[in-house]
Amino acid sequence: MEGNLIIKNAKIVTPLGHKAVRGSEMGKLSILSEAVIVITNGLIDFIGKLKDLPTRYNSQDYQEFDAGGNVALPGFVDSHTHLIFGGFRPDEFEWRLKGDSYMSIMERGGGIQSTVNATKSTPKDDLVKKALWFLKRMSEMGVTTVEAKSGYGLDLETEMKMLEVIELLKTSSENKVNIISTFLGAHAIPPEYKGRTGEYVDLLIKMLPLVKEKADFCDVFCEKNVFELEDSRRLLKTAREQGFGLKLHADEIVSLGGGELSAELDAVSADHLLHVSDEGIKAMAEKGVVATLLPLTAFALKEPYAPARKFIDTGCAVALATDLNPGSCFSGSIPLTIALACIYMNMSIEETITALTLNGAAALRLADKIGSLEKGKRGDVIILGSDNYKVLPYYVGMNCVQTTIISGNIVK
Ligand code: NIG
Ligand code: FE
Repeated sequence: MEGNLIIKNAKIVTPLGHKAVRGSEMGKLSILSEAVIVITNGLIDFIGKLKDLPTRYNSQDYQEFDAGGNVALPGFVDSHTHLIFGGFRPDEFEWRLKGDSYMSIMERGGGIQSTVNATKSTPKDDLVKKALWFLKRMSEMGVTTVEAKSGYGLDLETEMKMLEVIELLKTSSENKVNIISTFLGAHAIPPEYKGRTGEYVDLLIKMLPLVKEKADFCDVFCEKNVFELEDSRRLLKTAREQGFGLKLHADEIVSLGGGELSAELDAVSADHLLHVSDEGIKAMAEKGVVATLLPLTAFALKEPYAPARKFIDTGCAVALATDLNPGSCFSGSIPLTIALACIYMNMSIEETITALTLNGAAALRLADKIGSLEKGKRGDVIILGSDNYKVLPYYVGMNCVQTTIISGNIVK
């Protein structure tokens, strides 16, 4: 019975396809009422009307779930998080409330470096326990796949430790959420390399083959006074040659040309993009780089939101993610992400759904396996407490996901 589930009486709402959905296509969802979804061995085997359900599905082999006419969506994909970290930074949050800036705290040795220190001194088991707590909360909000970055190590030993924590989470009996891992050694310049960014990039390049087995993507905080364009380019080019998918924290604090660089390097995604230039947007649309927008971070930093409308109207694929981390954005709230995207970024409810499902999957090179409710894809389904998907942003910051199903197993 494990992974065998028949969901009856569902109103299916889903984007369709096996790749990122771009531009105006993002607003098109397929809707099917009074539908049945059959999941066999964790994969979607049948979708359609009850009357068309083939008789080969013997009810003895399947658990049955009655959705009661409510909406069934593909599981949400949170494609950008910093899920693993030691310590917390509430004091910095208060400093920012009083007018301090994110970058000035970082330049004083706080910010990312303070989490690096805490992560170094936290035992692996404690990091696992802490992440499990977040994963549980995320799955309750409908997240069925999450990306998790390293980047609070900045030396081989601790970066490895973080990637090993992610491996332990992948196989933990207490976690069902699928996890994709990203190497973010280029998250900050460690103090011992101050003024020698090039040498730190040399070190990161040496780490790449050593972390390759444990990380699918390589990411860089491409930012003024952190890893600027030339350092980012050198690291990412080498990573690409070694088979990593590429991601960038791009144009988050200032407009540096990170969007353009992501297109030049055929990155899978560029993320944040609060200050992306029009040229950057155009280049990303031309190359099919997914624009992963993180409205919770803009909200928490009191920064302007990324130009979601411009991206979509220029023909880009937009994904949404939480950016959960202990500093700039201590929130993994999917409901608030949805509300902010609709209220402040002027995304339609349909575009928001596509951004959190199929386009999130595409940002992890998984659009052929997850992100939509279609035969052959993984049985990751969420059921809302309503027969109307438009309640999603209406529930401002409140959760309307009632049931979460991962690979055909009910986890909530
Ligand atoms: O995505 N800006 C770089 N990285 C994270 C924040 C990490 C932190 O502050 O700990 C981000 O915003
Ligand atoms: Fe981030």
